Amino acid sequence: MKTKYIAAAIGAAFALCAQAQDTQIDRKVTDLMKQMTVAEKVGQLHQLSGRQFTGPTSSAYADKLADIRAGKVGSMLNVIGVADTREIQALALQSRLKIPLLFSLDVIHGYKTVFPVPLGEAASWDMDAIELSARIAAKEAAAAGIHWTFAPMVDVARDPRWGRVMEGAGEDTYLGSKIAAARVHGFQGKKLGATDSVMATAKHFAAYGAAIAGRDYNAVDMSEQQLYEVYLPPFKAAADAGAATFMNSFNTLNGVPATGSAFLQRDILKGAWKYKGFVVSDWGSVREMVPHGYAADLSDAAVKAINAGSDMDMEGYAYSQHLEAAVKAGKVKMSVLDDAVRRVLTKKFELGLFDDPYRYSDAAREKAVLGDASHRAAALDVAQKSMVLLKNEGKLLPLSREAKRIAVIGPLADSQRDLEGGWVVQGERAKVVSIVEGIRNHAGKAEISYAQACAPGCASSEGFADAVATASRSDVIVLAVGETWDMSGEAKSRTDITLPGQQEALFNALKATGKPIVVVMLSGRPLVFNTIADKADAIVYAWFPGTEGGNAVANVLFGDYNPSGKLPITFPRSVGQIPLSYAQYNTGRPVVDEKNIVYRSAYIDSVNTPRYAFGHGLSYTDFKYSGLALSSATLAGAQKATLSFDLTNSGKVEGTEIVQMYLRDMVSSVVRPLKELKGFQKVHLKPGETRRVSFTIDRDTLSFFNSQLKWSAEAGEFKLMVGSASDDLRLEGTLRLTQ
Ligand code: GLC
Repeated sequence: MKTKYIAAAIGAAFALCAQAQDTQIDRKVTDLMKQMTVAEKVGQLHQLSGRQFTGPTSSAYADKLADIRAGKVGSMLNVIGVADTREIQALALQSRLKIPLLFSLDVIHGYKTVFPVPLGEAASWDMDAIELSARIAAKEAAAAGIHWTFAPMVDVARDPRWGRVMEGAGEDTYLGSKIAAARVHGFQGKKLGATDSVMATAKHFAAYGAAIAGRDYNAVDMSEQQLYEVYLPPFKAAADAGAATFMNSFNTLNGVPATGSAFLQRDILKGAWKYKGFVVSDWGSVREMVPHGYAADLSDAAVKAINAGSDMDMEGYAYSQHLEAAVKAGKVKMSVLDDAVRRVLTKKFELGLFDDPYRYSDAAREKAVLGDASHRAAALDVAQKSMVLLKNEGKLLPLSREAKRIAVIGPLADSQRDLEGGWVVQGERAKVVSIVEGIRNHAGKAEISYAQACAPGCASSEGFADAVATASRSDVIVLAVGETWDMSGEAKSRTDITLPGQQEALFNALKATGKPIVVVMLSGRPLVFNTIADKADAIVYAWFPGTEGGNAVANVLFGDYNPSGKLPITFPRSVGQIPLSYAQYNTGRPVVDEKNIVYRSAYIDSVNTPRYAFGHGLSYTDFKYSGLALSSATLAGAQKATLSFDLTNSGKVEGTEIVQMYLRDMVSSVVRPLKELKGFQKVHLKPGETRRVSFTIDRDTLSFFNSQLKWSAEAGEFKLMVGSASDDLRLEGTLRLTQ
């Protein structure tokens, strides 16, 4: 009992101490702002891109240096490394009030050690692994003088035509919310201001992933109920996890650019959510309100953006050129300007930059931390956990090493650049382990041959004959195909998400040899590859797995790592099915029997089901689900129930199963999806081992945003389902909420 009181007392002391520090910082910010001119305040809200984009020789760069010295710049992005950040910080300290700069960078999935692209990491469903990845990225970036990363991207995305699905956590709100929190904790560590942590950014606020037709930067139009139910929760999770900043988005939402949306930035974020950090615009998104047709000119854009709660203008030059005049003309209240400046300065104090503006720019630490061997080990672990075994006909995998002749074929088999994926800033390309190198590293006695067959993108089939000849002399083929790294990410939408170039023809040519084929697929998005899906013996979806990608692929192929990944996004049979997610609605005319679709909600040229469902992923072992029980068949008020069942490893090797729990609200004031993910657990079992797995069900589990946008649960019946994938549910139970 005593310990409990002591713990409570310590907790209270810490809270008081944090509160005291906040008050102390508040006072310092107030004192500093009293000294600032309007021009100097505006300067804090102006963010510029550094020499990596302009180069020290260009004339524009000289102008930027002058602005920095004059205190007209509050933050820089794309200034990389201790030497450059020290040099530029020194300029800022020549300004009248010596206010230090914030240095920011897109550290999306690693800095020098590159981890799998975020959608790949999401396939691990492993919050510890995802947090570790962000933690290491933060350590390396902070050691290189970076204070602030523009990550995590938390946009729910259900349209794989949109290239930026690569940067997020996929289609699901629940999984995406868990991952958002894990990434914020990883980047920011235990305490913001430690020199191995960076400020996180929850982006892109909001609903950017729902761009019409999957075309990047396109408009977004949706009901507020859908916005609240699907797209906002990961942002709320990031805010609750303490995300230091938010970034708004390029898109309009229901006719208003997010950058100019007081509904998003003031009513929801800074109002209802009481968010205390600051909002940075996306690159030029303030300026872009003119082409959107929302602002008459740059001055109008500046006024509308700051009044709507967009605190800092990234590379827009709207604030720097027009905000001072707007304040003096009374178009922007001084209180609005002061609130934005206070938010920015508060972060600079929290990071300790006024005590020591160079504290993150330490050459010795940079040398010691970057590319540390333990970081590569972590990158290997996360990469292995991200891989998804889509198919394994006749248990071809894992490959035996005994005297096997393995032909490694394909345009991406020897690529290092493609394994890194997009949004890589300082990755050590030469140290990336390619797939063929990884297989050679782990081949044991197996004899490895290699043929590229075609260059990445596979525009030409000239090399196919050589590849077929190599394959004919082997016992098994490992074919590495997919998109190149630059086919996903920003401004990389595709209308056709099949394999680029002649890759399917290459597969068919190799298939004709009659040899068993394992396909390793690299991509930043779901692809459509029906021929391969039908005819390959085994398929491993490796995403873009990062620096240790080749070793991770090899460990999975040889069984040194039993794959456990599950798809965080639906794989359609054709682009015609998009948008497609597992959280479908029943409609009034659901398809009951695929042979009878007359006047049913169906297509006449395709089934409704996806090629691979959300949550799908195989293992080298088998898992059995049994004995589902509910601690109570009814719930009332704030009561809780426990759903439990036995999970057994009924196979011959140890493995990890990601058990998923879904729910359906059978009757409600707003129709609910056929299933919603409401829980998951990663369970590692030895062969023959059984574990009792349980989930807690409470009122929150049963709640949703009703048509008044109120989060509430409604009395009635709920179906609870557990299983291995959204289309592979093994057990179910019923729960009644009585009031
Ligand atoms: C880009 C992206 C955003 C990124 C920013 C800075 O346009 O939309 O995600 O953080 O600009 O590079």
